[in-house]
Amino acid sequence: MKLWIGLLLLSVTSHLHATLENQTCKACHPTIYKEYQNSMHSRSSIYKDVIHKAVWDRHPAKAKGEYTCAKCHSPSDPSVMNDNTKLTDNKIQQTEPISCQQCHQIESVEKHAKSNKNILTTKEKTFFSADIALKGTKVEFKEESSFFGMFTTKSGSAYHDIDYSNEGYYNGDSCMGCHSHKQNAKGFLMCDLEVKQGDSKDTCISCHMPQNKGSIANQKDTVTHAYHGDNIRNSTPTYLSKYIKLSLDKNANGFNVAIKNKATHTLFPQSLRLNQLRVTIERSGKAIKLKTESFARVIGSNGKPTMPWLADSIISDTSIKALETRKISFDATLEKGDTVLVEFGYYVVNPKAAKMLNITDKSVTEFIVLTKERFKI
Ligand code: HEC
Ligand code: HEC
Ligand code: HEC
Ligand code: HEC
Ligand code: HEC
Repeated sequence: MKLWIGLLLLSVTSHLHATLENQTCKACHPTIYKEYQNSMHSRSSIYKDVIHKAVWDRHPAKAKGEYTCAKCHSPSDPSVMNDNTKLTDNKIQQTEPISCQQCHQIESVEKHAKSNKNILTTKEKTFFSADIALKGTKVEFKEESSFFGMFTTKSGSAYHDIDYSNEGYYNGDSCMGCHSHKQNAKGFLMCDLEVKQGDSKDTCISCHMPQNKGSIANQKDTVTHAYHGDNIRNSTPTYLSKYIKLSLDKNANGFNVAIKNKATHTLFPQSLRLNQLRVTIERSGKAIKLKTESFARVIGSNGKPTMPWLADSIISDTSIKALETRKISFDATLEKGDTVLVEFGYYVVNPKAAKMLNITDKSVTEFIVLTKERFKI
């Protein structure tokens, strides 16, 4: 047993300087590693994200050969981070553009008007994490502790120290170096999550990284771990659906549908997204489709939509804001026995923009229902 563990340690240390850092984590955190493979954080480079690529291909920075997107889209690739003219297709770009370490070493976030900046810890192999029971403590791995000991529950990790004292891993501030907002070269705010906490007790982490079945590490048997697969493409992100509540009330002229957004940020804030409410009355075996209501933040110049880097103003903004309840009225009269089907969903890429950008990939061009409700009248 001791020999086996020694070998494991050796093989782990010899991987330290390998280019693919996540492979090291995989050895002990296979469940989280697997989940991460499906997240957009593992696919945020131009080599894995068709939308990012399509926009990059038309971006003026490309003509200059300067991949200025790296600090958020592929911060783990040292070559392009050190010199933004050195973007190449490599394994990091393919599999871990935002690696495990990248997120777990964010010590603080510096605020700037253009976009924020992540400040990483300079302590090697110290990872920040959250655990209410251990909040404020640091768990160090000491090699003198018995090999047997480190495989018990309370001795930390055999590979790294863990710092449980960073507030950003409890309240979600560690997400805000990349996700808060971004201005273009004209100083126009292209996107902004517009976070508003209000009375909500939820955080980026409680909503986006809910506890999911499976152990946090091979050497520490836990029933659940924090979900690492954030991705709104391909299929409904069901763990997020419950934060949108749909309701219906009849009135003299027809009825209202209310959309209650419990998220502490604007829904679908990216200008490429298209968010829709679709309502159908099912009456005596027939489906009567009512008008589709769209919610979007359209940006552009001179009153016309443009690519994000050319935009200098908001053309229209019907996006649903943090903690807002939006009411949409319909003038159709409902009859007893009707069922009203209400669907709330999105296109990852607005079909018009997809056409302009020549994007045909089904994973981003098909309508996805985030949540739906059937109301019997
Ligand atoms: C040799 C095995 C091993 C390797 C390699 C390893 N870890 Fe761990 N890690 C553990 C163990 C065991 C724990 C649980 C420690 C505890 O809670 O006592 C842990 C805990 C953690 C935690 C904190 C969990 C919590 O309780 O909140 C984080 C974050 C983490 N690891 C990240 C990483 C990252 C990132 C990598 C890759 C760079 C990595 N680990 C590589 C074994 C390992
Ligand atoms: C300050 C950090 C930051 C920088 C710099 C940045 N982005 Fe992003 N970008 C993000 C984040 C965060 C998202 C995901 C937001 C979301 O899904 O709501 C994103 C999403 C996108 C999307 C939408 C992809 C999708 O999922 O539909 C495109 C396109 C995009 N970025 C292009 C670029 C290009 C091109 C550059 C460089 C010229 C760039 N970004 C630079 C943070 C950044
Ligand atoms: C109460 C739950 C809740 C909280 C808190 C929350 N979110 Fe969300 N988030 C959602 C829901 C629901 C969606 C799906 C709708 C959407 O994509 O906008 C979402 C979507 C997103 C998206 C994808 C948007 C897009 O269209 O690409 C990003 C990025 C995001 N959240 C980041 C964050 C960050 C960062 C925080 C912390 C400031 C946060 N969220 C807090 C519920 C939440
Ligand atoms: C987008 C940022 C991000 C990335 C990428 C990321 N993590 Fe995490 N991770 C977090 C945050 C934030 C938490 C704290 C969540 C919590 O405890 O509720 C966390 C928690 C953990 C935990 C503790 C789980 C628990 O249930 O307490 C482990 C272990 C871990 N991460 C390992 C990894 C590994 C391994 C990878 C790469 C395969 C990885 N992380 C990638 C942000 C990230
Ligand atoms: C190092 C920068 C960085 C950090 C830190 C980061 N993200 Fe992201 N995140 C991105 C980028 C870039 C994308 C867009 C990827 C794309 O679409 O190409 C993204 C995408 C997302 C998405 C959208 C997924 C989709 O399908 O469009 C969600 C949700 C999200 N992140 C949540 C979080 C949360 C929650 C945290 C904090 C725990 C976090 N992110 C931390 C850079 C980051």
